[in-house]
Amino acid sequence: MSKASNAKRRQLVVGNWKMNGNLRENASLLAEVVAGWQGEHKSDVVICPPYPYLMHTHSLLAGSAIMLGAQTVNQYDKGAYTGEVSASMLADLDCKFVIIGHNERRRMQGETDEQVAHQFVAVQQAGLTPILCVGESLQDREQGCHLETIGRQLNAVFAHTGKDVFKNAVLAYEPVWAVGTGKTATPEQAEEVHRFMRAQLPDLADEIRILYGGSVKAHNAQQLFALPDIDGALLGGASLDADEFLAICSAAD
Ligand code: 13P
Repeated sequence: MSKASNAKRRQLVVGNWKMNGNLRENASLLAEVVAGWQGEHKSDVVICPPYPYLMHTHSLLAGSAIMLGAQTVNQYDKGAYTGEVSASMLADLDCKFVIIGHNERRRMQGETDEQVAHQFVAVQQAGLTPILCVGESLQDREQGCHLETIGRQLNAVFAHTGKDVFKNAVLAYEPVWAVGTGKTATPEQAEEVHRFMRAQLPDLADEIRILYGGSVKAHNAQQLFALPDIDGALLGGASLDADEFLAICSAAD
């Protein structure tokens, strides 16, 4: 199915700032980004700053169409979970999206498929949209079992939630070996996985948005966005540079 024939899927560009920024840098980055993203657009843009900067980012985005997102969430609503943040708190701060299952959290914080499934539910219960990240390691890719890994990561959430709830969700494919490495999946590699992911949700195939993430830059965004099953990007490094970020948003638009 060509994307042009499918008006239902708005392209989406999400900037995941990871653990970067400070009050001064964020203000100057967002002044440029907001100024460069005025008026009506055909695509959606989301910025996910570190937690301490959510409120500040929210005020810097006031009056702009750019939405606020968070980089992770705890699966519980409240209680004795020192250092954690709940989905209802993120909703309180006007976040619209929450990234869950990012490979950096799976690998560095030891988040399991099961925890990610619980986070998915918590995010939706708070009225927000989860951006569920999946992706294979270099070893999986080299052994040719990348689709198996991605299938397992998706099934862990499907088993917990069913598939209907994906009506209000976004998927992101981030091959671990392409994140922050400068290596991008080739368009063929990315499209193969996106097609596979879309096929896991046959009832929502026309509407589920599937983002690609992993060293997306202005110079390769256009080629990725032209693919029929890629509906936008989840950006790390490129979201910290206003010109680069705006060029990618424009390529999606
Ligand atoms: P890079 O764009 O820096 O490779 O990061 C991708 C990513 O992990 C976004 O969540």
